[in-house]
Amino acid sequence: MFCVAIDGPAAAGKGTISRAVAQHFGFAHLDTGLLYRAVGAETMEGVPAVKAALALVPGDLNNPDLRGPEVAQAASKVAVIAEVRAALVDFQRAFARRSGGAVMDGRDIGTVICPRAEAKLFVTASAEMRARRRFQELAAKGLANSLEEVLADVKARDDRDMNRAEAPLRPADDAVLIDTSDLNIQEAVAVAIKAVTERGAV
Ligand code: DC
Repeated sequence: MFCVAIDGPAAAGKGTISRAVAQHFGFAHLDTGLLYRAVGAETMEGVPAVKAALALVPGDLNNPDLRGPEVAQAASKVAVIAEVRAALVDFQRAFARRSGGAVMDGRDIGTVICPRAEAKLFVTASAEMRARRRFQELAAKGLANSLEEVLADVKARDDRDMNRAEAPLRPADDAVLIDTSDLNIQEAVAVAIKAVTERGAV
């Protein structure tokens, strides 16, 4: 059992780093943002958030529509609700304890979900850099409007994710901070793998 907790704000590179770390060590990966996105998507259809969170099943996470910007905002809104967060805890902790090792990325993995994770990383970058990267990613899928709009979205989510009462986004005291503003993907991945190796993963 080995849990790698990777937290940080939207579009800092957590997903890319998490997948690469999981592949390197042969661990399973859970993008916990998908849980909140799946709940957010249900609320866009009129389902109450807590009801949607309680009814969530793993298959719901495979929906490709969860990646869009409207769902991201809906996810960030349902994520402030304590009952929604509570409904998603057991699934996440069970995943963290799986025998082959786990990488989990989100906002509160190192602070709330897995406070005893063997390795904790906090991946961040400037809001402008994150918006530029997310814009390119969305534009490639034909989903983005303008860079300004993506930056406003990133800032709105940062504000909501960092300032909520319940499990706000912040680095755990023992997290390794990785600022990806001036790193390319390979460099960021190498820094992350080195940090996880230093915490004892093989
Ligand atoms: O990582 P993401 O962009 O897919 O996350 C979408 C939203 O879900 C994010 O703005 C806040 C919320 N979230 C959370 O509160 N806790 C997590 N562990 C993961 C995501």
